[in-house]
Amino acid sequence: MRICHVVGARPNFMKAAPVIRALSAYPVKQIVVHTGQHYDFNMSEAFFQQLGMPAPDINLQVGSDTHAQQTAQIMSRFEPVLLDTKPDLVIVYGDVNSTVAAALVCSKRMIRIAHVEAGLRSFDRTMPEEINRLLTDQLSDLLFTPSEDGNLNLAREGISCEKVFFVGNVMIDTLASMLPETEGRLLPDLPKKYALVTLHRPSNVDELDWLALLLSSLEKASRELAFIFPVHPRTRQKMTELGIKPNGKGNIRFLEPLPYLEFLALQKHAIIVITDSGGIQEETTYLGIPCLTVRENTERPITLSMGTNTLVGRDTSRLIKEINRVLDQPRKRQGIPPLWDGHAAERIARVIMRGESCMPERETPLPAELHGASPREKPDQCGQTTRASGGS
Ligand code: UD1
Repeated sequence: MRICHVVGARPNFMKAAPVIRALSAYPVKQIVVHTGQHYDFNMSEAFFQQLGMPAPDINLQVGSDTHAQQTAQIMSRFEPVLLDTKPDLVIVYGDVNSTVAAALVCSKRMIRIAHVEAGLRSFDRTMPEEINRLLTDQLSDLLFTPSEDGNLNLAREGISCEKVFFVGNVMIDTLASMLPETEGRLLPDLPKKYALVTLHRPSNVDELDWLALLLSSLEKASRELAFIFPVHPRTRQKMTELGIKPNGKGNIRFLEPLPYLEFLALQKHAIIVITDSGGIQEETTYLGIPCLTVRENTERPITLSMGTNTLVGRDTSRLIKEINRVLDQPRKRQGIPPLWDGHAAERIARVIMRGESCMPERETPLPAELHGASPREKPDQCGQTTRASGGS
């Protein structure tokens, strides 16, 4: 069996790493294709090194461009790779342009697609990622969800629950296994208490008036608490357009994007995290660090219901109020979401390897705990009535 992993942007790497590792226990040939959507050392290669991932077999080197150009470039450069390497299955990750581009090529070439982190929905189609999620899920043959809300979303969209597997969160697999290695990685000269900030969503950084307002609110808040802000290249560009110089804003320390372990160490020791990233909402939930998300919605509602995440929307006075509230009374998580236990990738590997020998007509049913939509919502369609529950 030949399996091709397609990765392209920073949040893909920590999702693919544990899946590649789990599949290496089986007799499969694995090929890693990097689309080149992210290309700076700290946005890409540093992650491969720290996560112990094999170097990509192929780099499509698409680089940055408009969404249409970037997606089109990935498609036209990926197709010959597919024809040449002839994988039995292509695994795509998350919701970036590389994810949907690869899925589209595979679907036209009748190559099976597995989507890791399927089913998440913000219900906000102004987000490019939401479009990527919707399309990728429609095209995929195996859909691996990180939380049960994903199964319900997919069922609502008419996706057969036969294809859907609630496996847990692969990003947490990486976090849990790498956490001990953050020891000694904390940046020097850090204040004892600090807030960690990341902002890169188009909705926050592309509109300069809003970005300026957001940064000046953080600057005011930084009179009470130091802020550490590793700046995404997209945000850096916009700050340059606004004429904001590095470290020209109060007690905010702007940094270059950080490698995985250094960033994780910063998260672990932060008093509060302010972000618009999807993955960081999940990581703070696992770590139990209060998180304020500068967005109107989230595709990861479990971080609100069980975790430490609070949505503050596009409202700077709410943001400041919530920062003060957290400092007075930090929000505690209710628990760690089901199957965020460090073993999601092993479950994915088991489904793929079991599925290979039995699909399309399965002789041996897959373990019930790995299968289908939540039986509370869709009991009959799947013929499975055992609810997925912790660890396996
Ligand atoms: C992409 C993903 C987003 C994800 C984010 C993580 C899409 C639609 N968006 O957004 O979901 O949360 O990655 O970082 O796929 N740039 C560099 N060096 C790099 C990469 C980018 O300088 O290595 C600059 C370029 O000027 C580029 C801009 O950042 O135009 C944006 O990069 P792009 O890949 O288009 O989107 P992200 O904002 O990174």
